[in-house]
Amino acid sequence: MGCANLALHLHILIMTVMVFTATFCVGDTDPLDVAAINSLYVALGSPPLQGWKPSGGDPCVEQWQGVSCVFSNITALHLGGMNLSGELGSNLDFPSIIEMDISNNSIGGTIPSTLPSTLKRLSLSDNKLNGSIPDALSILTQLTELSLGSNHLTGQIPDVFLQFTSLTNMNLSGNNLSGQLPPSIANLSSLTALHLQNNQLGGTLFVLEDLPLQNLNIEHNLFSGPIPPKLLTIPEFRKDGNPFNTTVIPSPPAAAPSPEAMVPSPSPSNEKSPHSVAKSPSMSMKAPAPSITRSSFEVKNIIWWIAGFGIFIFIALGISLFMCCYCKRRPRSKNYEEHTDMGVYIDVEKGHGSKLPPLQQAPPHPLPIIPGEKFISPPKSANEIEGGKQIMTSSIRVYSVASLQQYTNSFSQENYIGEGTLGPVYKGELPDGKLLAVRKLNTSMVQNHEQFLQLVSNISKIQHANIVKLIGYCSEHSQQLLVYDYCSNGTLHDALHTDDRARVKLSWNERIQVSLGAARALQYLHENFQPPIVHRNFRSSNVLLNDKMEVCVSDCGLGSLLSSGSADQGYDAPEFESGSYTQQSDVFSFGVMMLELLTRRKAFDSSRPRGEQHVVRWAATQLHDIDALSEMVDPSLNGAYPPMKSLSRFADIISSCIQHEPEFRPAMSEIVQDLLRITSNLG
Ligand SMILES: *[C@@H]1O[C@H](CO)[C@@H](O)[C@H](O)[C@H]1NC(C)=O
Ligand SMILES: *[C@@H]1O[C@H](CO)[C@@H](O)[C@H](O)[C@H]1NC(C)=O
Ligand SMILES: *[C@@H]1O[C@H](CO)[C@@H](O)[C@H](O)[C@H]1NC(C)=O
Ligand SMILES: *[C@@H]1O[C@H](CO)[C@@H](O)[C@H](O)[C@H]1NC(C)=O
Ligand SMILES: *[C@@H]1O[C@H](CO)[C@@H](O)[C@H](O)[C@H]1NC(C)=O
Ligand SMILES: *[C@@H]1O[C@H](CO)[C@@H](O)[C@H](O)[C@H]1NC(C)=O
Ligand SMILES: *[C@@H]1O[C@H](CO)[C@@H](O)[C@H](O)[C@H]1NC(C)=O
Ligand SMILES: *[C@@H]1O[C@H](CO)[C@@H](O)[C@H](O)[C@H]1NC(C)=O
Repeated sequence: MGCANLALHLHILIMTVMVFTATFCVGDTDPLDVAAINSLYVALGSPPLQGWKPSGGDPCVEQWQGVSCVFSNITALHLGGMNLSGELGSNLDFPSIIEMDISNNSIGGTIPSTLPSTLKRLSLSDNKLNGSIPDALSILTQLTELSLGSNHLTGQIPDVFLQFTSLTNMNLSGNNLSGQLPPSIANLSSLTALHLQNNQLGGTLFVLEDLPLQNLNIEHNLFSGPIPPKLLTIPEFRKDGNPFNTTVIPSPPAAAPSPEAMVPSPSPSNEKSPHSVAKSPSMSMKAPAPSITRSSFEVKNIIWWIAGFGIFIFIALGISLFMCCYCKRRPRSKNYEEHTDMGVYIDVEKGHGSKLPPLQQAPPHPLPIIPGEKFISPPKSANEIEGGKQIMTSSIRVYSVASLQQYTNSFSQENYIGEGTLGPVYKGELPDGKLLAVRKLNTSMVQNHEQFLQLVSNISKIQHANIVKLIGYCSEHSQQLLVYDYCSNGTLHDALHTDDRARVKLSWNERIQVSLGAARALQYLHENFQPPIVHRNFRSSNVLLNDKMEVCVSDCGLGSLLSSGSADQGYDAPEFESGSYTQQSDVFSFGVMMLELLTRRKAFDSSRPRGEQHVVRWAATQLHDIDALSEMVDPSLNGAYPPMKSLSRFADIISSCIQHEPEFRPAMSEIVQDLLRITSNLG
């Protein structure tokens, strides 16, 4: 039929076209990824994996089964236990892949001799792989976990581990490996778990002596003694089934251990790497919050149509692809390139594989259209429900501490924006000039990495035009940072309360708009987001103003990190003293912010006379008195505010918000409606 031949040509053709367009076309899956996954599919014998194709296609956009992407790069394959057979083929050149789990299948053949150097976690265990472990393994220097257990691997373990400083977990058990342990195993300075049981390995164990092992299994091999004393201090050490008491003692590399060396010393003596404390004991596949920007451009079909017609059409196709991608996606590709220096490990895995806390349902529709209200820049829905599967469409980036250091001028004083309740905030600038706000969480705020990722995942779903957008995070070396869009006009607190002449001055209309923006943000959190969020820390210093003077409320979704009792003086509702904090308490704090807007007095100001320190106590009794009200208004407005009627409506909203009894305070949606009525009266 020549069909295979055609397919082969087609394949080469597609790869060439894709390489050709790779530089320009970033909206769809990286062409090298497509080429690699196509050949994997063919090598596996075309298994019934959803979406997978022998040529072309768009794995990231079309969400091929088991494929995780970040933007247009494939970053993980989760194909464990999928009844796959066939082989792995020779092209596993996924340029950005971090994790490959193809364990628990029936895949035969050998381990490919080209492996992607970006891999951090590789599991091929429980298959039928034969042949020896290839020397090509030597390029996988970023590996943290390697599992090749329960295969039919033979030959020696290759001597390739000199540079594997991050490897914490290696499992080669249940094969037919023979020979001695290679010397470079001694250089696995982070190795805490090593499983070599059920092989034919021989020689001595001295090479393991100085590793930070916590878990070592060498059962059922041919190891000969003596056992290095240090190994006996390993908490989990299994060694049965070895002929240790044979008399053949190959000359040990170092002097024979002295009796003192028998004294257990729990800490390994040579800690070569600062990262030697990795904890994960197994090949647990970690996967933080999903994300991805999608498009629905299909190149594959076009390619099928034209592929057979030879070189002329090849050129035409190349040009058309070029034009198409370059013209259509130019803005996105620019944005994409801005961030190429950041690694992002974000999972789009659907349905299985991820051991991380499951993502909660996002709000059905963040902003309902309120009658008579202009629908301002609707935020994208955080999730799309498609065939019962959940996909997240926001994009959250992962930053390294090093890159954030670079962007924030090493967290210098000049870049310091202020001290939030949860830790300091710094201004950052990307190389292209885009500004960021980088919040360092105080240590002890979040217990561990998983909790932090859960937090990031939750915050990333909060998407509203009046809420500061989370754009990324960093979790590295016990540092936890959140990266947000930068709001160039600072906080409402500064706009109202600093004496700086350069401060942003707010007109009366702008103050109403600020109230409205903030009210919408709280309405969204209370009434539209599922499950509802109580802000818990609403105050004018968490109300930011962007370059268009639009409100962006900050600290949303971080309420859970606040210890009870940390509410801000001046904003805390009366019920807070009894430890109760509800949506109605947010409403109270919102009322306090409106009072600040009305009077330009701080929520709490110790420099004022006693009776006037708390703006709420000072104002509460006067809000209904027209004369007193006109006295209370910020003098710097110089009378430039609208008729008394609007002013007293504004005051009425405040009164209702700061009522003592929480249950009498209005819902945020009512407040939004009331504010809208004031704006419509303004004409
Ligand atoms: C291996 O995969 C099968 C399904 O193919 C599954 O039932 C089994 O639990 C898996 N075993 C492990 C250890 O993951
Ligand atoms: C696994 O695949 C084989 C063919 O490769 C098929 O015969 C068998 O039914 C499959 N088993 C399951 C559980 O899908
Ligand atoms: C390795 O496995 C492949 C496929 O399962 C088989 O064809 C080949 O003969 C095996 N090689 C050896 C040396 O067992
Ligand atoms: C090592 O791999 C084998 C085979 O896959 C598996 O049975 C065993 O549980 C693994 N050991 C560890 C500690 O992961
Ligand atoms: C392991 O290799 C030996 C020869 O080196 C062979 O006799 C034996 O059958 C092999 N075992 C398995 C399980 O492949
Ligand atoms: C590897 O380990 C050996 C023995 O511990 C040591 O002499 C050598 O310097 C190490 N090499 C590297 C590159 O770390
Ligand atoms: C090792 O010594 C034990 C007794 O100490 C003995 O039972 C066993 O057979 C010996 N094993 C070998 C391989 O000599
Ligand atoms: C995608 O992969 C390319 C290399 O293939 C890399 O330069 C780029 O940074 C990656 N993008 C992301 C977002 O990881």
